[in-house]
Amino acid sequence: MNTLPTTPDEFGIFLPDQHGQAEEFFRAYGFAALRGVFSEAELVAMEQECVAAQEELTAGRLHERHGTEILIEGDAGDKANQFANYVTYMTELSPAVTAGVHHQDVLDLMSRLLHEDYWLLDEQRFGVVYQDARPGPESSYTRIGWHSDWQSGPHLDIWPAVAFTFHLDATSPANGFLRVVPGSHHWNTPAPFLNINDALVPAGSAEAAGHTSQPPPSQMPLRFERVPGEIALYCDRGDILFHDAYLWHSAARGTDDETRRRHIRGSFHSGAEELQGEHLADFVKNAAR
Ligand SMILES: [Fe+2]
Repeated sequence: MNTLPTTPDEFGIFLPDQHGQAEEFFRAYGFAALRGVFSEAELVAMEQECVAAQEELTAGRLHERHGTEILIEGDAGDKANQFANYVTYMTELSPAVTAGVHHQDVLDLMSRLLHEDYWLLDEQRFGVVYQDARPGPESSYTRIGWHSDWQSGPHLDIWPAVAFTFHLDATSPANGFLRVVPGSHHWNTPAPFLNINDALVPAGSAEAAGHTSQPPPSQMPLRFERVPGEIALYCDRGDILFHDAYLWHSAARGTDDETRRRHIRGSFHSGAEELQGEHLADFVKNAAR
C-alpha cells in the first residue's frame, strides 16, 4: 500500500508517530520534516539561548571560535563585526539546543536513515549552528546558492549524512525559504570543480557522489538559477526539516527587509571517518549572500 502523503499541505510533513512514513518519504525525495516534536516552551528556551549567544558574540564577549567569516561571502565581513548572522558550536553554549539535538524523535529517525554508528558533527567544522538570515542592511547572510552538503567536503569520508534544521521562524516568500530538487539525492552529483567562489576542490576528493550512479539530468547552476523540477519548501515554527547531504538545495532571499529567518542547524554523519579537530580549513564554500 502506498503510504506517501497525497495532499500538498502534507507533502513532506510528518507527525512524531509517523517515523516510518517519514523514512519512506525521505528515501524517495531526499527530505522530510517532523512537526510537533518540540513544545512551545522548548522552542522558547532554544530561541532565548541562541539570541543571548548571538548578542554576546556581537558584543565581543564570546570566544571568537563561535563566530565565523568562512560562511560569509566576499566583502561582507565588516558587517559581521556589528551583527552576527551565525553562532557556531551552539551545543557548547545552549543546554536547550543540546537537548533538542538529542531528542528521541531526532535520534530515532537518524538510526533509521543512517548506519547504527551515526554521529553528531558537534565539535568539528562549525558544529551545530544558530543561523539568523535576514535581508536587511545590517545582514551579511541572506541566501545561499545551489549545492549539496557533500560538496562542502568531498575529500572527507563522513558521508552519507543527514542535515537537520530546527525552524525558530516559519518560512515564507517574505522572510525567505528553502528550494529543493526532490529526488536529487539519487543523482551522482559532481564535486564543484567549477564553482562561483573559485574554491579549490581538495586533493583526494571523489569526483561525484549520490545514492546511485545515475548522472544528474541537468547541470547544477552556479548560483540561484531555476532548476527543472525544483520546489519551494515552507516550514512552520518548530518544524524539524531533515535533508540528505546529497540533496540539491538553495535558500531564497526574503523580500521584506523587516523580517528574519532563524534556524538551528547541524548534521549527523555515518562515514568511516569520525573527524578529529575542527577541520575548518577543509570547508569548500558555496555561493552565499
Ligand atoms: Fe546546505
